[in-house]
Amino acid sequence: MMSHVLTHLLCLVCACMARPQPVSPRSMRMEQNSPATGSLAGRVVLPCHFSIMSVSTMPTTPPPAPGPLLLSDALHAIPSPGEELRIKWTKLVAGGEKVVLVAQGGVVKVGQDYKSRVSVASHPLSVGDASLLMVQLRASDAGLYRCEVMHGMEDTQDTVSLNVTGVVFHYRAHTNRYSLDFPGAVAACRNVGATIATPEQLTVAFEDGFDQCDAGWLADQSVRYPITDPRPGCAGNLGSRPGVRTYGIRDTFEKYDVYCYVDKLEGEVFFPSSVKDKLTLQQARDECEKHDAVLASPGQLFAAWRAGLNRCDYSWLSDGSVRYPVTVPRPQCGGGLLGVRTLYKYENQTGFPEPSDRFGLFCFKGETETRLSRHA
Ligand SMILES: *[C@@H]1O[C@H](CO)[C@@H](O)[C@H](O)[C@H]1NC(C)=O
Ligand SMILES: *[C@@H]1O[C@H](CO)[C@@H](O)[C@H](O)[C@H]1NC(C)=O
Repeated sequence: MMSHVLTHLLCLVCACMARPQPVSPRSMRMEQNSPATGSLAGRVVLPCHFSIMSVSTMPTTPPPAPGPLLLSDALHAIPSPGEELRIKWTKLVAGGEKVVLVAQGGVVKVGQDYKSRVSVASHPLSVGDASLLMVQLRASDAGLYRCEVMHGMEDTQDTVSLNVTGVVFHYRAHTNRYSLDFPGAVAACRNVGATIATPEQLTVAFEDGFDQCDAGWLADQSVRYPITDPRPGCAGNLGSRPGVRTYGIRDTFEKYDVYCYVDKLEGEVFFPSSVKDKLTLQQARDECEKHDAVLASPGQLFAAWRAGLNRCDYSWLSDGSVRYPVTVPRPQCGGGLLGVRTLYKYENQTGFPEPSDRFGLFCFKGETETRLSRHA
């Protein structure tokens, strides 16, 4: 009751002060919205905070009276029939924009790629919050978004950038295809600087275009594989439809490949520029040591690839595998496809090269080591 009275008093005060000016009595303002980062298959809030205030009184407005009720709260509380709030989120893409969500008067429309994945607060006006909650994050969600808030004749907007970290990758042991039992699969991911992927992470990777016709263990002890381009031999339980094929939950002693997940790189992967010749596995290990580093793990290489590393040289990694990352498509490097290329020993895509074979090398230096050596 008391706060109602106070609200009305405050409104009267500001309405009077606004009157002498011919400009619109109220104005919307966007708060500073910071960039956002989320992990693959996780959730993120794209911030968009706005306030509605009286412009003309701004310079002379006394500080709000002490107490729980702020002047801006009072203004938000003004019922203004016919002045519905409209929130529009778009993604800025090459050559235009894509509608993510439009919300007005309780009606919410969502763009095709964002179905069941985005929402805004149900009473954005009263809280000055038009932030967008996005779930089941895909790598392709990364980019620049615009938040627009329209209220009556007023309109304010801001852009927010979103980064999405993390990548799912297929891993095969050096011995043969389908040679990992469940404990072995968990250990294999750990040994290559990653964790065993969850079904949610694999699903999101599939949405981003991941296609791999090899059954692999996942964290829930299920075995699945992602197919975006259906073809004979990769039908699984879905026939000719794209999707993640599943064998269901399996006994731990059965043997498959594995899908691993790595989040953002906590350090640096590099190809030492001093190295001119191809090296054996042992020489590569020694070379990294000269740089106060170690041979990079496959997990680290995938994370570096995700962050943009591009190098068209088959190179040694810590597990004795040989790979290279492509982020810039070129016909002579991985046939114009993007991703991490793996060199297998046999045509049937099994086996690692012999340790005495000669290749390049990727070294890894952790964040602390990097910082220490820069300051040394
Ligand atoms: C997002 O990624 C870009 C490029 O990788 C980087 O420059 C930027 O600092 C990142 N932003 C955030 C908020 O992490
Ligand atoms: C692939 O080829 C190698 C060498 O010929 C063989 O040892 C291995 O069993 C084969 N693996 C599969 C899955 O066919």
